[in-house]
Amino acid sequence: MKKLIALLIAAMVLVGCSSKPATPSETPAEGGDAPATAQEEVNVGVSIYKFDDNFMTLYRNEIQSYFDELSASGDVKYNVTIQDGKNDQAEQTNQIDNFIAQDYDVLIINLVQSTSAQTVIDKCKEANKPCIFINREPSEDDMKLYDGTDYQGMYTYVGADARQSGRFQGEIIADLENKGDVNGDGTLGYVMVVGDPENVDAKYRTQFSIEQYEESSGLKVEKLDEQRGDWDQAKGQEIVANALTKYGDKVEVVFCNNDGMALGAAQAIEAAGRKVGEDIYLVGVDALPEAIELLTTGGMTGTVLNDHIGQSHTAVDAAVKATKGEKLDPYYWVDYVKVTPENAADYK
Ligand code: BGC
Repeated sequence: MKKLIALLIAAMVLVGCSSKPATPSETPAEGGDAPATAQEEVNVGVSIYKFDDNFMTLYRNEIQSYFDELSASGDVKYNVTIQDGKNDQAEQTNQIDNFIAQDYDVLIINLVQSTSAQTVIDKCKEANKPCIFINREPSEDDMKLYDGTDYQGMYTYVGADARQSGRFQGEIIADLENKGDVNGDGTLGYVMVVGDPENVDAKYRTQFSIEQYEESSGLKVEKLDEQRGDWDQAKGQEIVANALTKYGDKVEVVFCNNDGMALGAAQAIEAAGRKVGEDIYLVGVDALPEAIELLTTGGMTGTVLNDHIGQSHTAVDAAVKATKGEKLDPYYWVDYVKVTPENAADYK
């Protein structure tokens, strides 16, 4: 037995123990030799701004399954806790405090309010925990807070450049044979359904869709209505139903900052007896499965793939890197892709 123990110790020295400091969950098996296949454990705390969001539901499910895949195929077991921020910053801050108090190894945060980034970065820095922001981009100033310190490279933002998604929406409409100008008067009458204006995704999509449309089509635009729909399908439906009642045929295009609201808009358009592709056009962002379905059946004109798979995998890869003590880039960007009936089948 003594010989066996000595051999084991020698083997451990040769292989080298994990370079990562022990976490609370790395409790060695009690009694007897540690199994040779024991996986190192890493605790990951994730907080999503709210669970009740179509796009973030796809995103968080992919975070979980990609970590599961890595756990199944590698030598590290990732224990992932995903919490619902319930659209309440105080609730989310509390979750972050708890992750830190329980000594989680890395945090992945989809902020409720982007303006809370500084507080979160400060807390993580204080506890020396890596933090990966996703989906809701903090301000550039916040992302530079600890440049030049030891904490630089321990926090990052993983996302997609919302300006690109807006431009793609504008191009989708400008590329139509009639450039979306149903009545041919040289001016595009449109309704804009905005997500949450505090979020740069909403700000940029609202701005760049129209700027790009004007540039690509050479036509003028007339904003008939612009309302805040908070990314929500029911609100999208209500806003568009009201706009159609008020402005009737003057509405030639409905731009929605996301597909959730576009799905609601599609219901309102149908209820008003209008027909997408004939007397009105409708674009969203995300490429939700329901939107792809509408694209193939003529209920929507186009959408833009907000690549939740690419983004979630990039965020997880960054988290893994950080737990190994490697430095992160300040930003990781994932491209959007234009989706129209022509290529919709590729995104089913
Ligand atoms: C998505 C929306 C989502 C929002 C949440 C955006 O990037 O397009 O569908 O509701 O993120 O922050």
